Amino acid sequence: MGVKTTVLCENAVYGNIGAIGEHGWSVWLETPRGEYLFDTGQGKGLLNNAAFFGKDLAAVNGVLLSHHHSDHTGGLLDAMKAMRGGPSEGGVPVHAHPDLFKDSFSTKSEKLRHIGVPHTRSLLEVEGADFRLETGWREIEEGVYMTGEVPRRTSYEIGDQELKHYGEAGGLVVDPIRDDQTVVIDTGEGLFVVLGCSHAGVVNILTYITEKTGKSRFHTVMGGTHLGPVEEDQIARSIAALHEFDIGRIGVSHCTGQRTAARMAGEFGDRFFFCSVGTVVEA
Ligand SMILES: [Fe+2]
Ligand SMILES: [Fe+2]
Repeated sequence: MGVKTTVLCENAVYGNIGAIGEHGWSVWLETPRGEYLFDTGQGKGLLNNAAFFGKDLAAVNGVLLSHHHSDHTGGLLDAMKAMRGGPSEGGVPVHAHPDLFKDSFSTKSEKLRHIGVPHTRSLLEVEGADFRLETGWREIEEGVYMTGEVPRRTSYEIGDQELKHYGEAGGLVVDPIRDDQTVVIDTGEGLFVVLGCSHAGVVNILTYITEKTGKSRFHTVMGGTHLGPVEEDQIARSIAALHEFDIGRIGVSHCTGQRTAARMAGEFGDRFFFCSVGTVVEA
């Protein structure tokens, strides 16, 4: 199955004069059965960059969201407005997890920062969002999947300890971000994986994808690995574990951070690429 992805929002822009970088992530996904928007960035760059790269938001079959964080969902309102009048008129399917509208916070700076979806569900629905919220693995169309919640199996993928939500006792505790999910496309030449932020742990994610599909050949793995803001133990053990998978190309972005990305470039050599704004990957 022919697949083409174009990075619309990412932290960095190299050379695409007119495109905008922002701390965020969004990928335009073209498949033989239609086009999809995976994540929406934080809302500054999406419309500009979609126009810059000639992607018609009104043409999408649906929106896929990796998790609730605002750097992935902040562009959703603009996206809904832009999708008016397209084939999905009467409601644009938005596939996500039931935790989409939870409150969560970053404690990275002195002031607590809300990092949930910056718009209300009702406003987004008025603008055309038809939320399809599910927890499990699902097929969006033939050969295109979302993982749903990913079982946390490794001991070392403990994640970002500065991201919090309200625990059962009412106080702020580390958020397991159980809604974190990944897009998987079965290309026939191997699995094509587009990560969101990998809060579930990139090793857990790839392991689960292999379990669910019964396939272990990864044509491409691209996206955020969240190996930037974690401890050295997790970075080193995750990179070591990635070598055990059969990955044709690995392209990292966003929450991987420059330092870990540079390290992975050294580790994976010709198989490595960096996914900045405008990066196109085809399979
Ligand atoms: Fe995130
Ligand atoms: Fe992110």
